[in-house]
Amino acid sequence: MRKWNFCAGPAVISEEVLTEVKEELLEWADSGMSIMEMSHRSKIYDTVATEAKQDFIDILKVPDSHDVLFLQGGATHQFSMIPMNFGRKDLAADYVLSGSWSKKAIAEGSKITNINTIASSEDMQFSYAPNPNIWEMKSDSSYTHYCPNETIQGVAIHSPPKTANTLIADMSSVILSEPIDVSKFALIYAGAQKNIGPAGLTMVVIEKELMGKENESLPNILRYSKHSESDSMLNTPPTFAWYMAGKVFKWIKRSGGLDHFKKQNHLKASTLYKYVDNSGFYTNPVQLENRSIMNIPFILADSNLDALFLKESEEAGLLNLKGHRSVGGMRASIYNAMPIEGINQLIDFMESFKAKYG
Ligand SMILES: Cc1ncc(COP(=O)(O)O)c(C=O)c1O
Repeated sequence: MRKWNFCAGPAVISEEVLTEVKEELLEWADSGMSIMEMSHRSKIYDTVATEAKQDFIDILKVPDSHDVLFLQGGATHQFSMIPMNFGRKDLAADYVLSGSWSKKAIAEGSKITNINTIASSEDMQFSYAPNPNIWEMKSDSSYTHYCPNETIQGVAIHSPPKTANTLIADMSSVILSEPIDVSKFALIYAGAQKNIGPAGLTMVVIEKELMGKENESLPNILRYSKHSESDSMLNTPPTFAWYMAGKVFKWIKRSGGLDHFKKQNHLKASTLYKYVDNSGFYTNPVQLENRSIMNIPFILADSNLDALFLKESEEAGLLNLKGHRSVGGMRASIYNAMPIEGINQLIDFMESFKAKYG
């Protein structure tokens, strides 16, 4: 029996998509084989891959100025691939420190290029995010990097800065949750295992002009332009993850696109925040304007009850509510594929737990 999965990633996938995949798992489209067994150079797979890319472009309204790449290595690989390509000896790269993932990006990037941390909320345990209006951006930095949604702290920067040099964003836990203006970004990257599909795939949306500025001395596998020229098939791509991502894109399209999911996601998040704020037992530590729509941490009034909460929530069919080990408490990740029914069940459980032990 399927239960409600609040995992931060790999995360819940729509049951509609999983059922479709199950039905065509043994044989795909009269090909005599599973999609998993098929050459990535075959005509049939090429149709699957091209359609997935086009659907992603349609959903996110990616302009012609940008290309979309299906890569591997996770978002973590981008932490080094970006500075390897766009870091410059004579200039620093600007980074915003607003949570654990931007901290990792800075740590990795620092091994490769000179980094200038232009704003930080670390002194307040990342309970808010520095407002883009106060980022101390240099006019001559090589690029500006930030993480719009910090998955671990549940802290979001909801609007990008109005101006920034070569703006780069780690959108791993927020991609496809709402419409965005892609033209504001030179590069967007995201691990697929939250809002897109199974792990193993990393989406990159990159301005074509930016690829002209990459480090040409790098091996091909580390160069965005080489992936772009070969339609993300420089080597064998994660074919099954790509195919499944395509299924998710079609599901997003027929569900009403990103406007629909934005509405749903805001409804889900505001329902849960409202309950937490009024409960008198649970609290969310994040400043109001930086509350994430995707990852909602909450703390029990008595941390001695944490283990019991996790045990009983699991028995009630609510899985993976444990907060990240670095933060503690609880966290509900409520990506696109989590319906409002899951939120309502979570709230019912939280209310009965409070009544019993609060
Ligand atoms: C915001 C963010 N960035 C980066 C990562 C690392 O992603 P990956 O495991 O795909 O390297 C994660 C993973 O949870 C994340 O949430």
